[in-house]
Amino acid sequence: MKQQDKFNSKIGAIAVAAGSAVGLGNIWRFPYILGENGGAAFLLIYILFTILIALPVLIGEFSIGRMASLPVTAAFKKLAPNTKWYFIGLSGVFCAFIILSFYNVVAGWTLYYTYLSIVGDLTDLNQTEISELYHQTASDPATCIFWMILISLGIAYVVARGVQNGIEKYSKVLMPLLLILMIILCVRSITLDNASEGLSFLLNPDFSKLTPDAIFAALGQAFFSLSIGMGAMTTYGSYISKKQNLHSSATAIVIIDFIIAFLAGVMIFPCAFSYGVSPDCGPGLVFVTLPNIFNQMFGGQIMSIMFFLLLVIAALTSSISLFEVLVSFAKTQFGIGRTKAVIISSVLSVAVGIICAISSSTFSLFDNLSANILLPLGAFFIVLFIPIVLGKKRIKAELEANGTTFSLFNVFYFLVKYIVPFAIFLLFIYSIFNWLFI
Ligand code: PHE
Repeated sequence: MKQQDKFNSKIGAIAVAAGSAVGLGNIWRFPYILGENGGAAFLLIYILFTILIALPVLIGEFSIGRMASLPVTAAFKKLAPNTKWYFIGLSGVFCAFIILSFYNVVAGWTLYYTYLSIVGDLTDLNQTEISELYHQTASDPATCIFWMILISLGIAYVVARGVQNGIEKYSKVLMPLLLILMIILCVRSITLDNASEGLSFLLNPDFSKLTPDAIFAALGQAFFSLSIGMGAMTTYGSYISKKQNLHSSATAIVIIDFIIAFLAGVMIFPCAFSYGVSPDCGPGLVFVTLPNIFNQMFGGQIMSIMFFLLLVIAALTSSISLFEVLVSFAKTQFGIGRTKAVIISSVLSVAVGIICAISSSTFSLFDNLSANILLPLGAFFIVLFIPIVLGKKRIKAELEANGTTFSLFNVFYFLVKYIVPFAIFLLFIYSIFNWLFI
């Protein structure tokens, strides 16, 4: 079966790419990183980076993938044979591995919270109990490992069976449902006592809080949230039909991804301020705030079950895109079949996942390393690949392959050739300097 045949409809591949983008990055990571980095000012920088840096990278990854019609590792080999550009694919494989290992731990917590909601153990807890529950969960290796392994088995099952059909259905039906549920939760959150303080934290910028670290974290989060800089979107680009308009598809994904992240902020911060949860409390933020909202609403238990379940599915569709990078690499590199590749990738990612489940410092190290170093670095080389190897004509032809003109092509090319690499480089130098001397 050809890759493209795997989709039922033309928007299939786009829905699948949106499924990769929308996940824990939006609902778990975005609020906690924003909370640690001062709130509204971070949000503004995040929006700026998303439009000027992340969007061009996403368009670039889609074009490279579709042009090569191959998953990331093979794509660079095909487009630049006998060169060292192939290392972009290798670094993507490494990065997928690192992200999967902590991502699945968080996905495991989410599955555990779904279970707790179903058996009724999440209702009627007070704020202290909610907070204790999270700390117990995160610091209990047995719980973390058990639920992480369940998640990993789910991923392995879907990927072994040939991925995409199920995800396409999810993205078209369940993602809108997640959106509706989030809007309801946002309404409940902003009508809690003291909610305005939380909204002001999210919307009223205080630029004195914008440290170099915060700026770098905003860039990393923009890459992480859109799944760019490591080849997942290059791989998905290879599934997109030539009739699709790549830049408008990428723009649609950026908008959906942003809306979900923003709503997560609106859902979490008013509630956090209302219940005295510190916005900079780290990776537990979503888990220590949301149960309070469920306690304060009619049908809270049902809402809680539905929300955590949808979040598990959103996390799965993102994990699957990471896993697919490992599996396609193992298949092409070692010439093994899909099932064998899935087994090897699962065993390795569970093994590293166990380390993240046991050691919170490894967990944070991998979280920071992937978003703040590996993804920006990957994106840096991916965008350089465009002017250096492909050139203006080829990339333009790919972007206009569906017969329409891309009126902002020159802006895109300028961003990709100069602004994006320069901005990433500058931010790197800045943060290394900051790290060494301040
Ligand atoms: N974008 C995904 C999310 O927001 C995470 C991810 C990162 C997936 C990088 C693939 C690659 O949850």
